[in-house]
Amino acid sequence: MASIKVAVVTGGNKGVGLAVVNNAGIAFKVADNTPFGTQAEVTMKTNFYGTRDVCKELLPLIKPHGRVVNVSSIVSYNSLGRCSPELQKVFRSESITEEELVKLMEKFVEDAKQDIHQKEGWPNTAYGTSKIGVTVLSKIQARELDATRKGDGIILNACCPGWVRTDMAGPNAPKSPDEGAETPVYLALLPPDATAPHGELVSEKKVVKW
Ligand SMILES: NC(=O)c1ccc[n+]([C@@H]2O[C@H](COP(=O)([O-])OP(=O)(O)OC[C@H]3O[C@@H](n4cnc5c(N)ncnc54)[C@H](OP(=O)(O)O)[C@@H]3O)[C@@H](O)[C@H]2O)c1
Repeated sequence: MASIKVAVVTGGNKGVGLAVVNNAGIAFKVADNTPFGTQAEVTMKTNFYGTRDVCKELLPLIKPHGRVVNVSSIVSYNSLGRCSPELQKVFRSESITEEELVKLMEKFVEDAKQDIHQKEGWPNTAYGTSKIGVTVLSKIQARELDATRKGDGIILNACCPGWVRTDMAGPNAPKSPDEGAETPVYLALLPPDATAPHGELVSEKKVVKW
């Protein structure tokens, strides 16, 4: 996990056309005293905008039956539950657009800089909010693939690797990096005739009800 940023897997004649795993991510340590607004901006830039930028370049290149895995976190789900009811409704909406999502992620950063994010209904976590962005972005991207490349059988999901012993999570996490790779690899190698999961947050190879 720790050394992978974006993994691109090309298949043979019969294999999956192309698989992309967007794995790069950051999290400030709890003890870090960087101002919260700066943490929000930097974390959002890497986790949300980085994933979005890579997808923007690579999604058009995905061949039929390709697989895309955006590494999010179960923390996105926990953080969703700490959003205001209004924000939860928007993030669960099946018609939210990428533009609307980007505006909301921008608003979180601006609210964090002014220290009004909690008053505005956001959870007090830059990492969690950026991962809400990654999970919701994945749902939007899956819908767009269905609309624009119907019949190509491309599958795109967000996932959580679990709590893994990496630079980010430290030595006390229960999973080895190999174990953490299991769910992302499962999603990247879904068989060519698979239709699901698609547009989901997947943890321990199971769909998390968003
Ligand atoms: N570990 C866990 O328990 C856990 C749990 C849930 C989700 N996740 C997610 O799993 C993914 C991998 O995390 P990890 O635990 O392996 O973290 P990590 O040990 O900190 O590794 C993160 C990786 O992302 C790369 N990266 C960070 N910022 C980047 C940028 N701006 N551009 C390009 N590459 C960048 C790093 O590259 P450099 O080394 O070159 O900086 C490193 O290879 C992340 O998305 C994380 O949020 C991890």
